[in-house]
Amino acid sequence: MITSKELRDKYLKFFQDRGHAVIRSASLIPDNDPTVLFTTAGMHPLVPFLLGAAHPQGKRLTNVQKCVRTGDIDEVGDATHCTFFEMLGNWSLGDYFKKESITWSYEFLTQVLKINPDTLAVSVFAGDADAPRDELSADTWASLGIARERIFYLPKQNNWWGPAGLTGPCGPDTEIFIVRDVPKCCETCSPACSCGKYVEIWNNVFMEYNKQADGSYLPLAQKNVDTGMGLERTVAMLNGYHTVYETDVFASVVALLRQKAVAELSAEEATKAVRIIADHLRTATFMLGDEKGVTPSNVDQGYILRRLIRRSLRFARKLELDPETLIEVARIYISTYQEVYTELATNKNKILNELQQEIDKFSVALQQGLKEFEKLCKYIQNNRISGKAAFRLYDTFGFPIEITAELAQDNGITVDMQGYENCYKEHQLKSQAGAEQKFKGGLADHSEQTAKLHTATHLLLASLKKVLGDDTIQQKGSNITAERLRFDFNFPRSLTKDEIKAVEDAVNSAIQAKYAIACEEMPLEQAKASGATGVFESKYNEFVKVYTMGDYSKEICGGPHAANTADLGTFKIVKEQSSSSGIRRIKGILQ
Ligand code: ALA
Repeated sequence: MITSKELRDKYLKFFQDRGHAVIRSASLIPDNDPTVLFTTAGMHPLVPFLLGAAHPQGKRLTNVQKCVRTGDIDEVGDATHCTFFEMLGNWSLGDYFKKESITWSYEFLTQVLKINPDTLAVSVFAGDADAPRDELSADTWASLGIARERIFYLPKQNNWWGPAGLTGPCGPDTEIFIVRDVPKCCETCSPACSCGKYVEIWNNVFMEYNKQADGSYLPLAQKNVDTGMGLERTVAMLNGYHTVYETDVFASVVALLRQKAVAELSAEEATKAVRIIADHLRTATFMLGDEKGVTPSNVDQGYILRRLIRRSLRFARKLELDPETLIEVARIYISTYQEVYTELATNKNKILNELQQEIDKFSVALQQGLKEFEKLCKYIQNNRISGKAAFRLYDTFGFPIEITAELAQDNGITVDMQGYENCYKEHQLKSQAGAEQKFKGGLADHSEQTAKLHTATHLLLASLKKVLGDDTIQQKGSNITAERLRFDFNFPRSLTKDEIKAVEDAVNSAIQAKYAIACEEMPLEQAKASGATGVFESKYNEFVKVYTMGDYSKEICGGPHAANTADLGTFKIVKEQSSSSGIRRIKGILQ
């Protein structure tokens, strides 16, 4: 068996022996980056150095970085998704490149971790208009002994990483997979499938591009290497476990939760609840104990933290666990991790106190919510709780919908879940929960006016395609203030006066068509297959929101938007100019 401590130590030593300085894990809260809430990868704190600034510890670095990714929060409970994880990484800041990076990865995996090379597969970048096919990586893997049939060439969607935010360092990558001894899902099964045959453990990114706000890629002054290995997942694979919850970092927490749970649930339900609590409380412990200290609140990072704690409490309730057990879980995590992350020991009291306070607040919310629920039951019609009423219970009293649904069921009442979902989504888009997305649409704030201009931007893109008869037109940049929209798109020449007028008219007709704006969440693949246009293909968002305006426009987007195009008023283009080579820029207003 290999423990997480052994893997951390082996990894750092291996790269230290090859001239890398060990740097400490940065805070979970990124510095000076308003586009993301949490540090999502080891490279994130290193962006200035990947762009060319000199790092005080040299050109070769290695570390283990605490990371949070909340994009898949609703998936937690299955075998693979976690909101917190540790990333082992090594970097070359304009020093070594593909050959050395790949060779060391191979040596570490096969010689230090003793993985049988025949159980490894890799993917490399297939090449496109932005960067060439990565034959050097493929040849290097082959020369080390990876059979050609286990070297897969995949497109940008699979084999390109970054930037971490909207702009910045990125590049083609080569990903390393353990091939599991399970049947292929189909003849063309590859690491691009999510069937579970190929489990990614390490990603080596060759960061030689700098993505611009207009979507173009400029070569970086220096060629960098950025690698990331998922610690928990690799430990699980090395030990032949099926899930990360079997690894040593989770084992005592999972055992405690199983022992204390008294509810009689199906094995599946109990497993899911235990995993959710184990995952969410680990993340909460790290957020509360972070050197930049987050506390539960209704905005930004604090909102995510609150959501994690309250979701744990909801599942604790399902398992009929004493809330005290959750404090016990946090204590276990502190002792499991304090040697590596000393801030957890320093902030121990804060972690435990804040957690206790949030537990207390939630229990008050539950009591108030229960009272309101009883009142509500006296007035409902047709034995049905409306979506609005269910949402009010949640929004005003913090009463989770699942509890409303459970109680309703006990009382022979139904709940309009779809109506609730609609209210929730509308709220979520307006609230800080959407903060992770907030700059992605180029929105500077979340006012009603910017939401309307954002909707107008979607109508503008659809109208440009239609009027100019060009389906290759894409968004290349967007910036919206309360006063105006600014939209960049690819088109080879300036627009004529008549074309500008025709685009304006098309947008205004769409406004007058009074399209209700629908938002649906779905996996990225499904969104693309449905014909939705999109600009952002960040790997964080396997689940995306798709906004539809009648049959006029369908885009992958973070929102927020107006409720109906009729709310927009009259659209006017105030400027059409060149933005950069091949890119036009339109400024527009709503009157
Ligand atoms: N930054 C790369 C990743 O997160 C290594 O996969």
